[in-house]
Amino acid sequence: MNEPDSRKEASQGTSDESSNAIDESSKTRSYRREGFEPEELKNPLPLWYTIFCVALITWGVSYFFMQGTVPADAGDLRTALPLPGSLPVDGAAVYNANCVACHQSSGAGLAGAFPPLDGSEWVLTDARIPAQILLHGVQGEMVVMGNTYNGVMPVQSHLSDQELAAVLNYIRNSWSNVADEIDADWFAAEREAFADREGPFNGGAELISVLGEPDV
Ligand code: HEC
Repeated sequence: MNEPDSRKEASQGTSDESSNAIDESSKTRSYRREGFEPEELKNPLPLWYTIFCVALITWGVSYFFMQGTVPADAGDLRTALPLPGSLPVDGAAVYNANCVACHQSSGAGLAGAFPPLDGSEWVLTDARIPAQILLHGVQGEMVVMGNTYNGVMPVQSHLSDQELAAVLNYIRNSWSNVADEIDADWFAAEREAFADREGPFNGGAELISVLGEPDV
């Protein structure tokens, strides 16, 4: 409290009486409450602060060099998209696009109209039989798990060998089914096996006479 007063007096002592625009009596309470203009101090930086700055810079520079060679794509978290056609075909996707409307996602089919794939002897038997069903279709009576169906299984030969192999592996290994997997090359050979056949198989009877009884 004393210091501002003494400074005030000091400054008044040096300044000209006439240039002192505000005389003591006109000073309002708020004016008197104001602090004085801060004076610029020419003190040197404190030693601890200098040491702290030097240490910080040293650490920063050494940290930079301790990183070693940083790869050009460091920090780039984007995943490169696979080229179309370069991924293995997803059997579930082929099934959902081509089969699910009739055989249902549960693989249980629809009673009286579409036979089940889950547990079906035609699916679990030697893979050649369901492969030929896919490549040529079936029309006519066929017994599946003890029930007789008489519908039309549309030919699927427009699908590629990769897609057919994927969907066949999918139906043979989904729900409760477990059977050997086959690959696209195997399917390509199956496509050649009855290449000059025209039209669907005539029900279960013709499938059996050409390919044999389904045997699980
Ligand atoms: C338009 C309906 C329909 C579509 C789509 C369809 N199916 Fe079928 N599927 C049938 C019918 C109906 C039968 C029975 C044919 C008969 O009665 O002669 C059948 C029979 C089958 C059979 C032999 C019988 C059995 O249940 O095991 C298999 C295997 C089969 N389909 C697999 C498939 C697969 C795999 C797809 C998709 C790639 C597919 N089906 C698409 C209607 C369809």
